[in-house]
Amino acid sequence: MKKVNISLQHVSKHYSVIIGEHSIGQLTHHIKFDRVTQIYIITDSHVATHYLEPVISTIKKSFDGAIHSYTFDAGEKNKNLSTVEKIYSDMAEKKLDRKSLVINLGGGVVTDLGGFAASTYLRGLPFVNISTTLEGMVDASVGGKTGVNLGNKKNYVGVFAQPKLVIADISTLSTLPKRTLIQGYAEVIKHGLIADKTYFAQVAEKPFTDFNHDKQIEIIARSVEIKAEIVRQDEYESSTRKLLNFGHTVGHVLESLSFSSSDPLYHGEAVAIGMVAEAKIAQLSGMISDKDFNTIEIAIKRVGLPVKYQQSTSVDTIYDLLFTDKKNSGGKIKWTLLSSIGQGEENVSIGESLVRKAIEYIL
Ligand code: GLY
Repeated sequence: MKKVNISLQHVSKHYSVIIGEHSIGQLTHHIKFDRVTQIYIITDSHVATHYLEPVISTIKKSFDGAIHSYTFDAGEKNKNLSTVEKIYSDMAEKKLDRKSLVINLGGGVVTDLGGFAASTYLRGLPFVNISTTLEGMVDASVGGKTGVNLGNKKNYVGVFAQPKLVIADISTLSTLPKRTLIQGYAEVIKHGLIADKTYFAQVAEKPFTDFNHDKQIEIIARSVEIKAEIVRQDEYESSTRKLLNFGHTVGHVLESLSFSSSDPLYHGEAVAIGMVAEAKIAQLSGMISDKDFNTIEIAIKRVGLPVKYQQSTSVDTIYDLLFTDKKNSGGKIKWTLLSSIGQGEENVSIGESLVRKAIEYIL
């Protein structure tokens, strides 16, 4: 069984990402508990059923202080300030201090929200992310973006705060619903498209679940490396980190639009359609060839992700909503596009008519 330990060096912090099968058991090898006063685990109702007790038993082997846990109802709709406030009150009741360690156990919703609660309570408690979804392992748990939604505005409230350690245990993927697992692969495809043509060709060969476990670990590790290198160059997203937004400008609009429908899109599904739209913009503007565009669209389909937005809406609605994206400033959209497969380009300005044509393409 393969285990990968990636050492991340960001401006504000250095930490490791441990990727492997049953790597939750490694937690106690990588954290020194001697100065920790209490441990506070934040998780959600889905993850708690499977992994809360095993994590507590692992910690108990090396830590004899108090271990508390807070479980909130699973779902993006609970990634908000009201959940954070309940956690703050509970932390106060449990008398956490600055030497208490927070462990976020779950997918992107848990690590985003838990990282935010930890890094703002008492002006900041240290935290560890134990990631239990593919999306979390390759994206949310690494890089230090923490936060919550404000109504249906995604991640409008948050801070950059790096974890002390990230554990990605691929055995936890076995209890994920298939749709949740597959949608996480969109960020893997994105990493290939913006930074590594060879990696893109490998990961685009087949759906994630068709690879064996060693290969899955290798795929996750390379994705983390790509993200880590980008974040190392630009932790606070003033330039290069914007590359990671490929597919997200249109993707976030589709995700928000579908929030109120009976079948909301998962984040990765919205990003997959967003990547098709944004690759289309790159094709229409002559940045990538027709052949590259077709390769991208076919790959996204092949790995089990959607390429069209199936719910009823209009080009006008989507176009107008693009301007509400928090990444824009001064009423101008700065696109992250591709100049070839494996090469992203940030801060690109594009005329309205091309953008409208690309939106039309995904409807
Ligand atoms: N998920 C994009 C980023 O971390 O910058």
